[in-house]
Amino acid sequence: MDSPDIETNSRERAPLDNARLAFIGCGVMAEAIIAGLLRRQLVNPDQIVGSHPRAARREELYAKYGARIFESNREAALAAQHSESANETNAGASLVILAVKPQRLGKVLHELKGAIHPDQIVVSIVAGARTETIAGELLHPAVVRTMPNTPAQIGQGMTAWTATAEVDEAQEQAVCAMLEALGKTLKVENERQIDMATALSATGPTYIFLVMEALVDAGVHMGFSRHVAQELVQQTMLGSVMFAKESHKHPAELRNMVTSPGGTSAEATYQMEKGSLRTVLSKAVWAAYQRAVALGGK
Ligand SMILES: NC(=O)c1ccc[n+]([C@@H]2O[C@H](COP(=O)([O-])OP(=O)(O)OC[C@H]3O[C@@H](n4cnc5c(N)ncnc54)[C@H](OP(=O)(O)O)[C@@H]3O)[C@@H](O)[C@H]2O)c1
Repeated sequence: MDSPDIETNSRERAPLDNARLAFIGCGVMAEAIIAGLLRRQLVNPDQIVGSHPRAARREELYAKYGARIFESNREAALAAQHSESANETNAGASLVILAVKPQRLGKVLHELKGAIHPDQIVVSIVAGARTETIAGELLHPAVVRTMPNTPAQIGQGMTAWTATAEVDEAQEQAVCAMLEALGKTLKVENERQIDMATALSATGPTYIFLVMEALVDAGVHMGFSRHVAQELVQQTMLGSVMFAKESHKHPAELRNMVTSPGGTSAEATYQMEKGSLRTVLSKAVWAAYQRAVALGGK
């Protein structure tokens, strides 16, 4: 006799199931990740701990998110470890997220030395900090280095990340799931590409905001109020990006579609090329890349 179909409630295990997360330094970026994870119900508040030097900030985060925030960085990292008795198959990933400013990192790594369990993964969002430095200071080889950008603060970021060989696939998936709280993520091959992403996507909002500001000013110059010019420019930028993404067309093709002979777009393009806008942007990205390499080498 055929056995009856057995209905189960089991679902595939999600990367952050039973994970423990310790945020070292709970400022803007750590809060953006915590808020995003809880909003999407990817973790419960009791899976999150953190550390912060100021009592008022610790209390604020506990009140908002129900996460335990310690004064000591070490205590936070230790609190995110799975207990020795935890069932190995049920224990999720344990991530220690370094989210302090670059100038504080040396002190923080010194404090954390010896407090990271071999099964924990150290995830750095600190700009410019090399995995080699972090792994060397902590005597802990499993490190993920990430490079987010400012739209991450509203869950619309672009985060490039890379991992050392000691991070396994399940751990990478957990890290990726956590980073998705900040927006899109992209794994890159090595730290050279992190420096490249630093110049392109992490510094990216600077190029965009400057162009946005220049266009709004141009609108004001013609006679629009700043408020109206801003509305026209912001929606044009947003719509153009969405159109480019959805149409899958090359930007030049999209530009040609709106450039009629002797028209306004042709005239504007002529002036932009004459002013070397393309070259200026290319030089800016290249200079930012070289700066990222130099800062990381210090
Ligand atoms: N913000 C972005 O959009 C962005 C984008 C890409 C990368 N990043 C990187 O993300 C990291 C965090 O940036 P953020 O914007 O979140 O900075 P942030 O708001 O200043 O957060 C850092 C937090 O760490 C706290 N802190 C200071 N000393 C500490 C210590 N010894 N131990 C533990 N915590 C300490 C700070 O406290 P106080 O407030 O009391 O100083 C602050 O709340 C930086 O390394 C930055 O390079 C940020």
